[in-house]
Amino acid sequence: MAENEKSRRDFIFVATGAVIAGGAAVAARPLIHQMSPAADNLGVIGLDVDLSKLEEGQQLTVTFLGRPVAIRYRTALEIATALSDDQVALRHKETDLSRLRPKPDGTIDPRFLVFTPICTHFGCVVVGEAGDFDGWYCPCHGAHFDTSGRVRKGPAPINMEIPNYRWISETAINLR
Ligand code: FES
Repeated sequence: MAENEKSRRDFIFVATGAVIAGGAAVAARPLIHQMSPAADNLGVIGLDVDLSKLEEGQQLTVTFLGRPVAIRYRTALEIATALSDDQVALRHKETDLSRLRPKPDGTIDPRFLVFTPICTHFGCVVVGEAGDFDGWYCPCHGAHFDTSGRVRKGPAPINMEIPNYRWISETAINLR
């Protein structure tokens, strides 16, 4: 890896960490937080996640019902790569579009990929901006995922999961 690439990745990691730290306290909140809902109820109430502060190339991770949910603001190159890779032979055939959800006005915003950043082999947490397809990499046994979170190489049997969510405004989603 070239030194300037490493520096960029380090910057993204630091920037992403800042988003996570701020996001956990400010951007992500239960809808009825004053009622202190039990964990079971949280699944019904949902969790709103504000993405307005997320910048291109950053990833926000929140925990919902004990599992991580990642939202990546993909770069133009990542989006273009995901779309062109719709045409290749995929182990688990899903188009990039099918892994996105519409905004309230019915449009699809390909910049935001919402997914569960857990490897579908044995459940390790994946590493971002890594692997042979510049998406995610699982260091446990070497699974590679592309910029749509689709498995492309290694032992993972299926793509990374898309959690149950919907857009509730131009810049916020609700996890269910
Ligand atoms: S748990 Fe990810 S490759 Fe095995």
